[in-house]
Amino acid sequence: MKKPEIQKIDKKEYQKRLDRITELFSSMTVHADEQSTYRCPYKNKEDRCTAKFGCRNQRKPDNRRELLICGGDDKLDYRQAWETEAVPDSTLIDIEYGMGTVTSDDRTCRLSVGKTIFDYADELAVQVPTSCFRTGQCHECIIEIKQGMEALQPRNETESFLQENYRLACQAVVSNADVDIDFSPLRRTPKILIDSNQTPIVDIDPIVICQNGVVYYDGEAIDKYRGHLYGLAIDLGTTTVVISLVDLENGKSITSSAFENPQRFGGSDIMNRISYDGVYHGELRKAIINAINHEILQMEEEFGFVRQEIYEIVVVGNSTMRDILFKLDVQSIGQKPYKSTIEQAYLAGERSTTSLVEKTRRLGIRANPKAKVYGLPLIASHVGADTAAVLAAVDMASQKETVMLVDVGTNTEVVIGHA
Ligand code: SF4
Ligand code: FES
Repeated sequence: MKKPEIQKIDKKEYQKRLDRITELFSSMTVHADEQSTYRCPYKNKEDRCTAKFGCRNQRKPDNRRELLICGGDDKLDYRQAWETEAVPDSTLIDIEYGMGTVTSDDRTCRLSVGKTIFDYADELAVQVPTSCFRTGQCHECIIEIKQGMEALQPRNETESFLQENYRLACQAVVSNADVDIDFSPLRRTPKILIDSNQTPIVDIDPIVICQNGVVYYDGEAIDKYRGHLYGLAIDLGTTTVVISLVDLENGKSITSSAFENPQRFGGSDIMNRISYDGVYHGELRKAIINAINHEILQMEEEFGFVRQEIYEIVVVGNSTMRDILFKLDVQSIGQKPYKSTIEQAYLAGERSTTSLVEKTRRLGIRANPKAKVYGLPLIASHVGADTAAVLAAVDMASQKETVMLVDVGTNTEVVIGHA
C-alpha cells in the first residue's frame, strides 16, 4: 500500500501566517484592554446603566420604567463618576419621588414609580432569595405585602400561583408612589437556637458508618470519608421549621436553626395548604426544598463542611407537611376520613409501614447524592410523624406510669399512655 505523502512545511510561509494571527489577536487584546479601562462594566449594550448604586453619569430615561441612561463617553475613567456615598437628592438622576415610602424590617426609603420590590429590598439591604436572576422563574423571592398592595401593578402570568397579598419581589412593580408599602420576605434570616455540642441522650446506632476511610450506608460503600459524617434532623412545622445538624459519629447536635415555614403563601393552616396544593401542585414543595437547601448552604459556610458530607436526613411533621415534601398527593388528608394515601395503603395491607424513604437527589435536597431521606411513620390522619418522634423521644412505650404528652403547635396533639 502506498504511504500517504507528508506535505512539506514552508517555514517562511508558516512564520508569516503565525505573525498575522498574532497581529490580529494583539489588536483584539488592545481593544479589549481599552474597553475594560474606559467602558464601565455596568453599561449594557444599549448604553443603559445596570448599576445598583449612584453614579454621576446616570441620566433619566424618557420612560420611567426603563433603566437609567449611562451618560459616560467611554473616554474617561468611569470610576471617577461612581458615588461611594449615599446619593443626594440633588443628583442628575432626578428621580420623581412620590409621597409614599417603602418599609421592611424597620428600614424605610422613599418610593418612586417603576422599580420592583426587589430593587427596594436591595436599597434597604433586606435579603430576598433568588436563583433565577430575577426573571420570575425560581419562585424563591415570594414576599408578603403587609400594606400597600394597591400601589403595585397587578400580578402577571408568572405570579398566577400566588394569592391574596403575596407577590414575587422581582415582578411586583410600583405603579403608585403616593402609597406606603410594607413588605417582608417569607424566609426570614434564620435564628440559630443552639450552637453547642449537645450530649446525646440516647445510644446511637447510625445507619451510616465509616470504616477504613470508606463511608457505608447500611453496609453499602457510598463514599470516601471526607472528614465528617453528618446528618440532618428536620421538624417541618406548619408555621416553623427547625433543622438540626447532627454529627453521626458521636450523636452530638452541632447546631440548630429555626425559620418560618415559607409555605405561608399557601395559607396559614393545614386545610388551606391542602387545597392550595390541589390547585398549584408542587409550589409548596418547591418553597420548602429551597428553604432547606438555603439552610444547608448557611451551615456549610458557618461550620466548614461540604454538603456531600450529609449522609442521612430524618424528617418529621404532620401528615400533610411530611407528604408534601415527599412529592405525594395530599388531597385525601383534607377530606373525610382524613387519611393520607400512605395510611390508606397501609390499612389496606399494601404497605408494611407508613414511614417513607427517598433519595435526596429525587427530592432535590442538596446533600450527598447517595444519602436518603427518612420520614418517620404517621400515627393516624392528621396526627403525624412529629408526634411519633416525640413518643420515641420520651420512650412512652416503656413508661410504667401513665404519662401525658402535649405538642403545642399550629395544631396541638395530646397523647396519654403507658407501657
Ligand atoms: S452610569 Fe455610571 S455606573 Fe452606570 S454604566 Fe454609566 S458609568 Fe457605569
Ligand atoms: S427572583 Fe426568581 S422568581 Fe423572583
